[in-house]
Amino acid sequence: MGTAHEDKDTIDKHWMSSRISEDHQKLDRIFASLESTLRAMAEQEPIEVQDPDLLTDARDDLSFALEEMLEHFGIEEEAVFVFIRDTLPEFTKALAALERGHEMMCQQTSRLRMMVAAARSGNAPLDIPLALDLVGQTTLLLSTHNRQEVKLFYEAFQRLDSEGRERLITAINSH
Ligand SMILES: [Fe+2]
Ligand SMILES: [Fe+2]
Repeated sequence: MGTAHEDKDTIDKHWMSSRISEDHQKLDRIFASLESTLRAMAEQEPIEVQDPDLLTDARDDLSFALEEMLEHFGIEEEAVFVFIRDTLPEFTKALAALERGHEMMCQQTSRLRMMVAAARSGNAPLDIPLALDLVGQTTLLLSTHNRQEVKLFYEAFQRLDSEGRERLITAINSH
């Protein structure tokens, strides 16, 4: 087994090109796009008249975010977390906390999507400050979650033998 420094380089190399890392970046981009759409809506006058095109953009971003989240979280839970939990049971509690994070982010995103879809269908105008607040909260949850997740993967990697490391990398790339 190499030094901690070599381990970190190896993990970085695999991590940067992994599907999980790409997905994290994709989700960050979707939420950044959503935030800029909502900010554009907040600047429109009069505020009571909400631009249907912007609402469509926001709704589409939210549908895409939800789809991506469900797929991404599913892979993590079914492939990566299962492997780590079976191999290194000391991570069970930390993995359960990450799973609760998945659930919370999906709930917030669905709630936002329902609010935007209702406004798009003319049922109720979108409460833009509330929507921006929820987007801010979800973005923060995502970045904290992703940081904790990467840290856990690093720690798990360092405790595994070479065969375990190969299996973890395969799980991280499984799609
Ligand atoms: Fe996750
Ligand atoms: Fe993730």
